Amino acid sequence: MTSRKPLIAGNWKLHNTVDESRALAVAIAAHVRGKSACDVVLAPVATSLTTVKRAIDGSVVGLSAQNTHWEDSGAWTGELSPALLVDVGCGYCIIGHSERRQFFGETDAGVRKKIAALLVHKVVPILCVGESLEQREAGKTLDVVLGQVEAATEGLDAVALAPLVVAYEPIWAIGTGLTAKAEDAQDVHRAIRGHLAELKGKSWADSVRILYGGSVKPDNADELLGQPDVDGALVGGASLSADNFIPIIDAGVRRAES
Ligand code: PGA
Repeated sequence: MTSRKPLIAGNWKLHNTVDESRALAVAIAAHVRGKSACDVVLAPVATSLTTVKRAIDGSVVGLSAQNTHWEDSGAWTGELSPALLVDVGCGYCIIGHSERRQFFGETDAGVRKKIAALLVHKVVPILCVGESLEQREAGKTLDVVLGQVEAATEGLDAVALAPLVVAYEPIWAIGTGLTAKAEDAQDVHRAIRGHLAELKGKSWADSVRILYGGSVKPDNADELLGQPDVDGALVGGASLSADNFIPIIDAGVRRAES
């Protein structure tokens, strides 16, 4: 269907002790062993990063942080930096998740600085964008989402941005059990790709993986991943159990093989 390799990422948010993280990572790594058609990434809490790294070592599963600061070091109490993420083996980092924008004052300008810093360290940013229910009902979905994408990539060219992953996560669908209809998700994904092409060139835009996030479950994954511009999923709640996450990975493998 496309040369873009599907990517299924599990965002564990503020869940799982070190022991729980290890057990879940071991189960996921065992399932994907020997399979490489679909990229799989786990984003545990920061205190479990090293343990999960050890659990997935030697498998194709990648490690992601859930946030970073833009500076490498300094007087930034409570923060993590791209350099430290590399130090513990992170290849990815979620940036601009709506929970960070909503509850921790994350701004477009901060998101842009973090993306630039991650790219310097060769960590793949997973840039989250998405509209609230109010914005959707006011017909502002594309204004909001395309505006977020534009602000996050401002001043960076297609060469620097090569590894970028975008995750479209309608805020009203996160953790609510409500999912965007597959065709509605596809419309937004196509618009994001079109806008990236206008901003930075079509060949790069065609290579960017755009994930869908927001109540992705085993029973809706195939339909969402069957859309031409839905290249994977960023999964919250359903990534917290191997029984739910593994069928979503399998949907990613089916997309790769279709
Ligand atoms: P959810 O979360 O799958 O629980 O809706 C997705 C996310 O916030 O990344």
